[in-house]
Amino acid sequence: MQLEPIGPNIWLANGTEIKFMGMLLGTRSTIVRLNDGGVWMHSPVSYNSELATEIENLGPIRYLVAPNIYHHFFLKEWQDRYPDAELIGPRDLPTKRPDLAFSALLDDLQYDPWSGEIDRVVFTGSRAFDEHVFFHRASRTAILTDLIANVRLDDQSTLGRLVAHIEGVAHPNGRTPFLYRLGMRDKAAGARAVAAILGWGATQAVISHGEWFREDATQELRKRFAWLPL
Ligand SMILES: [Fe+2]
Repeated sequence: MQLEPIGPNIWLANGTEIKFMGMLLGTRSTIVRLNDGGVWMHSPVSYNSELATEIENLGPIRYLVAPNIYHHFFLKEWQDRYPDAELIGPRDLPTKRPDLAFSALLDDLQYDPWSGEIDRVVFTGSRAFDEHVFFHRASRTAILTDLIANVRLDDQSTLGRLVAHIEGVAHPNGRTPFLYRLGMRDKAAGARAVAAILGWGATQAVISHGEWFREDATQELRKRFAWLPL
């Protein structure tokens, strides 16, 4: 089984590792089954047929969600196989990936087909990128992507360990990457987004790279966003 259940109607899929700035990073997708039986897939990992079959067994894949402009690498392989699924992403991604057909933008707040089941907040204020953060109500799970990384050092090369320390993303104290913090031009905007995220009262929080937070998520997030004026 590639899907790991982490609560009612929510699963994780760990994908292939990627090399980034000398670090070896795991990738992770979060999969939610909506009340109507349709499947919502956050930040798709690389496609493989076994994983696709497991997901299809949950229900029809209706939404493929790209949470920021950097998590687009595997969208095409899923969209090619599930052309009826709606592809949703941040506002600058359609320009970056003109080969993909987007159904809607996450920035369009009128677009809210998961109303009452999945909430979302956009984290802005950094020159690096905006990130859309989600909350699955039924499982009280916050779903983040790159805003926090928490990378185990065991598997890293010497360079990777060094970079993880410099970036401030080494497990167990991983937080927002240094370069992202450096690009922050409007900390108040970021703090407002985090206040909304903390207000959800999440009990667990998934991140795309590294160890995610299986308990005390709200407290963990507050700690790891402490670089902002919360
Ligand atoms: Fe990432």
